[in-house]
Amino acid sequence: MSEFRVRSIRTLDAAFPVPGDKSMSHRAAMIAGLADGISTVRNFLPSEDCLNTLGAMKACGVEVEVLEEMPGFGPTAMKIHGRKMALAAPAGPIDCGNSGTGMRLLAGLFAGQSFDCELFGDESLSGRPMGRITVPLGEMGAEIECLGAKAGCAPLKIHGTRLRPIRYELPVASAQVKSAVLLAGMFCEGTTTVVQPAETRDHTERMLQSFGVTVEVRGDEISIEGGQVPQAREFQVPGDISSAAFWVVAAAAIPGSRLIIRNVGLNPTRTAILDVVERMGAKITRRLVSTEAGEPIGDIEIRGCLLKGTELLRVEIPNLIDEIPVIAVAAALAEGRTVIRNARELRVKETDRITTVVEGLRAMGGQIEEFEDGMEIVGGAPLHAATIESHGDHRIAMAFAIAGLFASGETVVRNTDCVNTSYPGFARQLAAVLAESANPADYDLPHVPV
Ligand code: S3P
Repeated sequence: MSEFRVRSIRTLDAAFPVPGDKSMSHRAAMIAGLADGISTVRNFLPSEDCLNTLGAMKACGVEVEVLEEMPGFGPTAMKIHGRKMALAAPAGPIDCGNSGTGMRLLAGLFAGQSFDCELFGDESLSGRPMGRITVPLGEMGAEIECLGAKAGCAPLKIHGTRLRPIRYELPVASAQVKSAVLLAGMFCEGTTTVVQPAETRDHTERMLQSFGVTVEVRGDEISIEGGQVPQAREFQVPGDISSAAFWVVAAAAIPGSRLIIRNVGLNPTRTAILDVVERMGAKITRRLVSTEAGEPIGDIEIRGCLLKGTELLRVEIPNLIDEIPVIAVAAALAEGRTVIRNARELRVKETDRITTVVEGLRAMGGQIEEFEDGMEIVGGAPLHAATIESHGDHRIAMAFAIAGLFASGETVVRNTDCVNTSYPGFARQLAAVLAESANPADYDLPHVPV
């Protein structure tokens, strides 16, 4: 089992890339797999989560030609031969690994097929709530059994059947649930509508539209007409702002540091992390470079300072839910109080991230109070090294590696293989940051032709 050993650094002055966006890579595999024609996808995230989704599509007969890969991890560029909405029955159960996104979106995709299939995952995923998708999909007529030891949990046995469109008001602001219903809606006759209680990431809508599918968005109401066929296209996945977030916080909290992250996704439903870190006092410049398949891509530059505490707004929570572990680290380094409430959803992520963040920060000397729906952190107390257990949660492992960059002594983060579920190359870049390397090549994430 691998671990990170981290100690404090004096400065961070670098420019580096982050790998492709996880949410968009899942969707690219699925939508290109459904499309009419051959799509070329570049900068695909070769993480375990996304490779499992690609594997699921391959199991349904989607042919993938690899053009480029990140050595040691997997494909980053490929041609995906779409099946024009006609998936083949998979030969056996499909492994979704650690990924809630993979399982929930695939369940939506498979519910309306003419075959049965089974989706399973690891221990963490087998404890996460699936009722949030089986309820709306059930209203559409889907037949899904939750076979897990825990009620309402995976494995999911999906008996493919004809679906009917619904109008569904999401009880929680979840892009995964919204996307599962919209993908199921592609396979029924008529208009499926999802109403979200707050804005959530809109990659499914944007990617479908860029593949030529009409998706109507009226405020918080999103509708799709069944029977449309996505048209294959060429597409480059932007860098993942949720991965960039770890370095954004590291640079922001070191006065005098300067970090540039290039070609990162700047979709406004994902950039609240930048607003929060700016509010905490760091200087962030965003430069829009291009738009790819409806997704803005740009460079960000972060200049560090002594941070100050802030309060996260209720509306910001869905936009930065994955960044809260590292925001909590920033809060521990900042002067004053940071309040994170209305974030109960953290309890049903890869771990209960309220508990894992609170335990980890306390072990390092942070002053933090736990609430049912969040936490309050009084920053400024010096952090000291500790041994932190990731509990197999990639974002906990990476957030505490960042905390270790500010602690006295050597912090050990245990059980860090999980980082490969979202951020291949993190360990390499962490080593370069620890070495305070001025050589840009040390921060590279090589993509080589195969
Ligand atoms: C995701 C949506 C979010 C996020 C997850 C990825 C997606 O989950 O936490 O990492 O790709 O749709 P919820 O929509 O369930 O909050």
